[in-house]
Amino acid sequence: MILHALKERWINLNMNIPDNFHIVDHALIKHKLSILRHIKTKSKEFRELTTEITSLLAYQATKNLALSSCEIETPITVTKGYKVKLDNIVFVPILRAGLGMIEGMLSLIPNGRVGYIGMERDHNTHKPVDYYFKIPKQADQKTFIVLDPMLATGGTMIAAIDRLKDLGAKDIHSICIISSPEGMNQFCNNHRDVNIYTGVLDEKLNENKYIVPGLGDAGDRLYGT
Ligand code: URA
Repeated sequence: MILHALKERWINLNMNIPDNFHIVDHALIKHKLSILRHIKTKSKEFRELTTEITSLLAYQATKNLALSSCEIETPITVTKGYKVKLDNIVFVPILRAGLGMIEGMLSLIPNGRVGYIGMERDHNTHKPVDYYFKIPKQADQKTFIVLDPMLATGGTMIAAIDRLKDLGAKDIHSICIISSPEGMNQFCNNHRDVNIYTGVLDEKLNENKYIVPGLGDAGDRLYGT
């Protein structure tokens, strides 16, 4: 256990972490992630933990959302209040594992819209293949938060954000539960202007492009396939 903690610290200290890559350091995230990773954790608990961890990451990822000021009346006096333009926020889960993160986002921002990007890794080439794309209009006026639990090679997340930028999107953020160093570097080299929030930076990818130690296949574990 101590060895693992030291290894994690070593990875973080010896890695050049780009400015737009944010590892959210929080005791509850560490605790919940450890249960999430465990081989014996079943789908129901896996889904609940994914929701809870997503909310904790979202809390950090949304801290700089644009605010407008307004006047509010308390029982004592009139004072200044703030509003986030909630219906301009679009959550974009990358199908299928990203779907598991939607509830966690909507629990914080119930008026958020939801778009969908269907991308999967070709098992032979490991490249992202796009099979579904449904995003609200006027992308240039929206704040997008792209969701995928695993940033492995980074290819899927990079391609999804490329598509959003093609539509004119300018304000894009992203949340992943577990990231690999390879995914981090690829992502940050391609999208320096997109802030990405993650619960942990793992050790590496294996020869099948799974994150090590990771948690296995997030989609399979969410949906019991
Ligand atoms: N996708 C997953 O679900 N798990 C990994 O480890 C990598 C990609």
